[in-house]
Amino acid sequence: MEKVRFGVAGVGGMGEGHCNYLRDRVPEASLGAVYDVNAERAQAVGDKFGVPGYHNLEAFLNSGAFEAVLIATPHYFHADIAVQAFRRGLHALTEKPISVTVSQADGMIEAARQSGKLFGIMYQMRAEPVYQAARKLVQEGVIGEVYRTLLITGWYRTQAYYDSGGWRATWAGEGGGVLINQAPHYLDLFAWLGGLPSQIQAKTRTRLHDIEVEDEAFALLEYANGAHGYLYASTTEVPSENVIEVCGDRGKLKITDGHLEVWQTETSVRDFTQTSPEMWAGVKTRPLETHINPRPEGALKDHAAITQNFARAILHGEPLIAPGEEGLWAIELINGMILSGKQGNPVSVPVDRAAYDQLLTELKASSKPKTRIQAQTQTDPNFR
Ligand SMILES: NC(=O)c1ccc[n+]([C@@H]2O[C@H](COP(=O)([O-])OP(=O)(O)OC[C@H]3O[C@@H](n4cnc5c(N)ncnc54)[C@H](O)[C@@H]3O)[C@@H](O)[C@H]2O)c1
Repeated sequence: MEKVRFGVAGVGGMGEGHCNYLRDRVPEASLGAVYDVNAERAQAVGDKFGVPGYHNLEAFLNSGAFEAVLIATPHYFHADIAVQAFRRGLHALTEKPISVTVSQADGMIEAARQSGKLFGIMYQMRAEPVYQAARKLVQEGVIGEVYRTLLITGWYRTQAYYDSGGWRATWAGEGGGVLINQAPHYLDLFAWLGGLPSQIQAKTRTRLHDIEVEDEAFALLEYANGAHGYLYASTTEVPSENVIEVCGDRGKLKITDGHLEVWQTETSVRDFTQTSPEMWAGVKTRPLETHINPRPEGALKDHAAITQNFARAILHGEPLIAPGEEGLWAIELINGMILSGKQGNPVSVPVDRAAYDQLLTELKASSKPKTRIQAQTQTDPNFR
């Protein structure tokens, strides 16, 4: 079978995870080379997988050893590596978040467009049957016009997690806290199902950890049609929970930790409200049987499923599950919340690119190198 050769950029915990399944689990893909700024790491991982290990980006991208680059460096480098790859006529699949800023994301999207190459983002949760089913229901109009949204993405992390790498949870190294690191998958699903708001009023703060970025963020959202929403993200919540709600004129959708519930109204809530003559009448609703197509026997899941879809898109034109351009949505929410939190007032979406770049420049200038680092390279066993 024809295979797409991938070059993995950044072979820490996640990058090595990609190498593992690229070695033999994705029939349409293979591993061509690896690259890491840490020369020893590049060599060790290259040797382990029997491919060249580069520690120079130019040499890696010019090697001719692959057609697509899979970017798993810390977030700040995603944009530059993707843009350089597109300029060399390579396809690029980037880890989440697509970038740290909306302006970087704009540059990636434009470079992809100019190159005509494929651009994807590693939003593996989109491939899960339950979210595929939810998205289909929304697209079919089951919820109707959206009136209210909610996202609770409550995570937990220890201080040891934050101490495990110098780049983590610093303005200079990561460009944010829970919003840029843990929240992107759910921010993406939230926007995929409920759309993007037009205005964000947020607070961000640091509650439980010795870090300079936020471990807690919450926001009121307003949508162009007058709908509103509430968004909460933290790494302080136990038990951890992820809840998405989208409520509309014809029904309600709720996903709690991957469990989908849907209700449909008998009539339009708007019409019923205006036309019912009864003082205490309510709109009749019924739970909707949801058909979640199970993953076919033997089908790949998680990161391998997105990489397989990306390879199939290159080989056979299969539609991308997570197109790179849509990676911008989570960044609009992240930058918007940080900007609003720091400025203390509501901000518009699309976020003011220049205002966010200026804020981040100031935050990076105030960033302090970490004093206690207990290095650990290990991917989250829960794969989030
Ligand atoms: N999709 C997911 O579920 C998921 C899960 C974990 C991590 N990630 C993402 O993967 C990325 C990496 O996270 P990680 O946990 O593997 O971090 P990590 O610290 O374990 O690994 C990062 C690696 O990148 C290397 N590196 C740093 N700067 C580089 C540069 N400029 N060029 C090349 N290599 C460079 C480091 O030496 C290290 O080996 C992050 O963007 C993170 O958000 C995604």
